[in-house]
Amino acid sequence: MTRPSTLPTVTLPDHTRVPALGLGTWTMGEQRAKAGREVAALRAGIELGLTLIDTAEMYGDGGAERVVAQAVGTQRDRVFIVSKVYPHNASAKGTIAACERSLARLHTDRIDLYLLHWRGRHPLAETVGAFERLRGDGKILRWGVSNFDVADMQELFALREGAHCAANQVMYNLIERGIEFGLRPLCQQHGVPIMAYSPLHQNALVTNRKLATLAAPLGVTPAQLALAWLLAQRGTIAIPQLSNSIRYFRLSGDARSVSNAVALAKMRAASKFVKTRLYVSTVSGWHRVETADTANPPNWTTEGGVTYTTTNTTFSWGSVLTPPPSTQATIGHAAPCKNNAGADIAGTACIVFNSRGVPIAPDAPGTTYSPTSNSAIYLTDGSDVYAVTVAATGMIKLWQTLPTSTPQWNRQ
Ligand SMILES: NC(=O)c1ccc[n+]([C@@H]2O[C@H](COP(=O)([O-])OP(=O)(O)OC[C@H]3O[C@@H](n4cnc5c(N)ncnc54)[C@H](OP(=O)(O)O)[C@@H]3O)[C@@H](O)[C@H]2O)c1
Repeated sequence: MTRPSTLPTVTLPDHTRVPALGLGTWTMGEQRAKAGREVAALRAGIELGLTLIDTAEMYGDGGAERVVAQAVGTQRDRVFIVSKVYPHNASAKGTIAACERSLARLHTDRIDLYLLHWRGRHPLAETVGAFERLRGDGKILRWGVSNFDVADMQELFALREGAHCAANQVMYNLIERGIEFGLRPLCQQHGVPIMAYSPLHQNALVTNRKLATLAAPLGVTPAQLALAWLLAQRGTIAIPQLSNSIRYFRLSGDARSVSNAVALAKMRAASKFVKTRLYVSTVSGWHRVETADTANPPNWTTEGGVTYTTTNTTFSWGSVLTPPPSTQATIGHAAPCKNNAGADIAGTACIVFNSRGVPIAPDAPGTTYSPTSNSAIYLTDGSDVYAVTVAATGMIKLWQTLPTSTPQWNRQ
């Protein structure tokens, strides 16, 4: 099942809307042995709605474009492909030839956005002329530039067709903010979006301790906070590279969506003075909030719409080969939900809150749901286990561990 994309979008000068978060491919396509994993990472990103992919003839000597072609497969119409011409190829004829080679490697008849990778020795007017010819032939749908500073952009805008520039891809992140002084205002004035490369400063922001201190109380990772900051910048498209992190991206997102539903159930209970529960289907991978009247046993009714938790088949609520907490034969639940007759509903997991928003079932009031008890809700892709727990005070926590018999739970 595919979750509809809720990503913010950026509108290009020709009114095309693209997701404000895409996928980079800089180090992809360099080693054949890694290709399968790279294709899988890009596919997982596309599935999440990160349907803008940035590549270049330079990356992996064309190898990255081949990886993109494999990842896109039959979904070409869903994906917005950005590629780049080397400056030394950017002559009138060279640009056309380089584009043809990229099209062949990408297994496509058009590139959505074709960029000059950086300024080189060929006159800008020659490159722009070639871009316009390619656009006229339908081989590229729009063109732009990369690593252009203020003087380069002024030179470009002075050209007859310079106003057709659809983006300037530059380094922009929480550490490198130089573009905010002159380049970004100039681009904004001309309606040219900024495409922010190295949005995580090549991992430096992922491990940045100061950012981690800011991210922790918000319940997000430093990488998520750094990307959220970029997404909040008007007209900015961020293109992180997520070769390995993509699965964490998805899994933490899913675990977080469950924890949001836990928070919702808790709030509903406290605001309506009735019992509320989080109802999780461990068979079908969805969850929802339900409320109950004061009858005994209570009549449970659905409060919100069903929320699908999984985006593909590798993710489940089911068992893992080595059970996570030693007390837990399979992952996937807290105790089952009960039906209106008071009987257990198979294949479900439940957390119930009283009218003060405090968890009351299946454990006695005052019990803290820890990832080593039977009360947490667990998610896994078979190689990592995530737990959503609720403290007796109603505090919600996310955890992660490897699936071993002696799990080391880390707070997310
Ligand atoms: N136009 C240009 O001149 C230019 C220059 C540089 C880059 N670019 C483009 O911009 C893209 C991105 O820039 P970049 O590759 O320099 O660096 P980046 O995206 O800032 O950082 C990539 C690093 O961050 C890690 N990461 C990404 N998301 C994460 C997450 N949610 N949690 C934890 N770690 C995470 C990645 O780990 P894993 O890989 O292990 O997942 C990788 O090590 C490139 O791939 C390329 O397409 C363009």
